[in-house]
Amino acid sequence: MPDRSIAILGGTGQQGGGIARRLIASGQQIIIGSRSPSNAIRAIEGWNVPAGSVTVVDYPSAASADTVILAVPFPAVADALAVCRDRFKPESLVVDVTVPVTFEASAPRLLRPSEGSGAEFVRARLPSDIHLAATFKTLPAALLNDVEQPLDCDEFVCGDSAEARMLASALLTSVAGVRPIDVGPLSSAAAIEQMTLLAITINRRHRVHRARFRIVGI
Ligand SMILES: NC(=O)c1ccc[n+]([C@@H]2O[C@H](COP(=O)([O-])OP(=O)(O)OC[C@H]3O[C@@H](n4cnc5c(N)ncnc54)[C@H](OP(=O)(O)O)[C@@H]3O)[C@@H](O)[C@H]2O)c1
Repeated sequence: MPDRSIAILGGTGQQGGGIARRLIASGQQIIIGSRSPSNAIRAIEGWNVPAGSVTVVDYPSAASADTVILAVPFPAVADALAVCRDRFKPESLVVDVTVPVTFEASAPRLLRPSEGSGAEFVRARLPSDIHLAATFKTLPAALLNDVEQPLDCDEFVCGDSAEARMLASALLTSVAGVRPIDVGPLSSAAAIEQMTLLAITINRRHRVHRARFRIVGI
C-alpha cells in the first residue's frame, strides 16, 4: 500500500501492539493512538523497533491517519469512536479488530450487539463516508507479539465495500505469513467473531495460546 499512514487506536494493548510490531517488521511506520501518550511511550519501550518507526499521539490525532486500526476492548469502542468522530479523514479506512467477547466465571461468551456484530456496531458509529473493514480478529496476540515466529495462517477479511476489503487485504498481505481470505460484506463479521470465540475455546481446551485458522480448497 503506497504511503498510507497507519494508526492504531489501542496500539499499546496486546492485539494492537502485536499488529503494530508485525507491521513495523514489514517496514511500515506506525502511529500509536493512546488515551495517555506519556504512558504509551513507556509501554512501547521494550519493543526493540527501529528508531522513528513509531510515533505516539492521542486518539483524536491518530484518527486522522489514512488507515485507522481499532484495537480497544469492545466496551470501550463507543467512547473511542465518539472522541474521534470529527477527526476522521474523509474517505479513510477504519479496520475493526475488536471482538465483543466477555468472560463469565472465566468462560468466554460472545455478546451479540443489536447491530448484528461488533463490526456492525462500529459501522453504526462511524461517519458515512468512512470505509470499514474487519480483520485481524482471529490472529492470536500471543503470536503477533512473538515477531520472530511465523504466523503461517489465513485471516478473514470482510468490509462494507470492495475498496475497504482490498485495502485491508493489502494491509494483511504486508504482514509476512498471513493470507487474507475475503469473506464478503460486513454481515460476515458475526461469523468471524464466532471463529475468534472458537479459537479461544481451542486454546483453553488444548492448553495453548496460538490457535488460528487455515482454509483449504482455495
Ligand atoms: N488479545 C487477543 O488475542 C485478541 C485477538 C483478537 C481480537 N482482539 C480484540 O482486540 C481488542 C483489544 O484487545 P487486547 O487484548 O489487545 O486488549 P488490551 O491488552 O486490554 O489493550 C487494549 C488497549 O485499548 C486501550 N483502551 C482504550 N479504552 C480502554 C478501556 N476503557 N479499558 C482498557 N483499555 C482501553 C488501551 O490503550 P491506551 O490506554 O493506550 O489507550 C489498551 O492498551 C479487543 O476488542 C479484543 O476483542 C484481541
